[in-house]
Amino acid sequence: MALLDIKQLAASYGKAVALESVTLDVQPGELVGVLGPNGAGKSTLLKAISRTLPSSGTLDFKGKSLHGQAPHQVVGLGVCHCPEGRRLFAELTVRKNLELGAYLRHDRKEIEADMEKTFELFPMLRERLNQQAATLSGGQQQMVAIARALMGRPTLLLLDEPSVGIAHRLKIEIFDAIRSVAAAGVAVLMAEQDAQNTLRVAQRVFVLENGKVACSGSSEAMKNDDHIRRIYLGV
Ligand SMILES: Nc1ncnc2c1ncn2[C@@H]1O[C@H](COP(=O)(O)OP(=O)(O)O)[C@@H](O)[C@H]1O
Ligand SMILES: [Mg+2]
Repeated sequence: MALLDIKQLAASYGKAVALESVTLDVQPGELVGVLGPNGAGKSTLLKAISRTLPSSGTLDFKGKSLHGQAPHQVVGLGVCHCPEGRRLFAELTVRKNLELGAYLRHDRKEIEADMEKTFELFPMLRERLNQQAATLSGGQQQMVAIARALMGRPTLLLLDEPSVGIAHRLKIEIFDAIRSVAAAGVAVLMAEQDAQNTLRVAQRVFVLENGKVACSGSSEAMKNDDHIRRIYLGV
């Protein structure tokens, strides 16, 4: 059974349709990329999944519909959303931001152990634990945002353009970290505009254009797809 099973999903902002009959699935532990230009509907898709935006169509997680679930209930079910633009609590420390990612949990010891795991993923976090989030670079803030989402112990992690506006070296580090998260068994659905790195780390990729799935397939197949090569890889 698919972990996330989406069929004919549609969402609008008032009268403006942003998503139209999107069909997509994520298998347990799979890393799936969602590519597409600005305005394609990537963020809308992730917001529909985390129930921060209403939608219609099939939206099943672990075989049960998410429709009717409040956003915090979706988190409780194991779906953590790392939104566009990171949205850290800028005035709080890195530690506080990470703790807030575990706000639905009460297992103190396990929370501490999970925080240690995020340090293995991003060693920078340990050194900056007591630093205000606002004082970090964009790339470091993205690491905090991903780590914070992981503190919710997701089965499915939703990442919205984690590499946007980040220096090359940190970007590679972030993509590699995301790959290790999935290798550790957490399924990841990642919206991105960096096609090259997404195709490098993801198992499968869906391309959204104008709110619809334009094409999809394994990263291996997509790397050789003419449309992808021309529009997203520029080769
Ligand atoms: N809050 C909003 N209000 C109205 N329209 C929106 C809003 N957010 C996004 N849109 C529109 O929905 C479409 C999809 O946007 P979005 O999901 O943000 O795309 P992407 O994340 O791929 O850049 C775009 O046409 C965008 O202008
Ligand atoms: Mg977006």
